[in-house]
Amino acid sequence: MHASETAAALTKPERYRELRGQLAALLSGERDALANTANAAALLYHALPDLNWAGFYLLRDNELVLGPFQGKVACVRIALGSGVCGTAAARRETVVVADVHAFPGHIACDAASRSEIVVPLVHDQQLVGVMDLDSPRPARFDREDAAGLEALAALICVGSDFRPLTG
Ligand code: SME
Repeated sequence: MHASETAAALTKPERYRELRGQLAALLSGERDALANTANAAALLYHALPDLNWAGFYLLRDNELVLGPFQGKVACVRIALGSGVCGTAAARRETVVVADVHAFPGHIACDAASRSEIVVPLVHDQQLVGVMDLDSPRPARFDREDAAGLEALAALICVGSDFRPLTG
């Protein structure tokens, strides 16, 4: 059976459970945050349907700076409180945007993006960055995606040492 058929047969929570196992295996024995976020971006981009961007912004000097990603080139620096990424970072809460055109201050990197989800990366109560996924499909992300991605973000935070990257 083709991989996409296997994925289609699973419910969203089942798919995220499977992804947690794959991510845990990828991170196993490696604490380098650059390597781990790079592999996580590739895993998410290729495993989840209907994405045009998946990646990370890392907190450096109180600003979000572009990290590993898959997709088209993206804006490099985002202030806390700006756009969807800066909003999720400032609130330390997942932000789900069904229609990016209706989100005040949305930063358009790829004109194809229609919906977005940003999950903050928080470790030991310290914000270290955000995970950002974009989709060309309106309302692509729901509460199940938020829960699934938050669990993946937690795995990355616990399994990686961000200090060399974020200072
Ligand atoms: N749309 C984001 C900017 C990052 S890109 O989507 C990759 C935002 O509004 O923060």
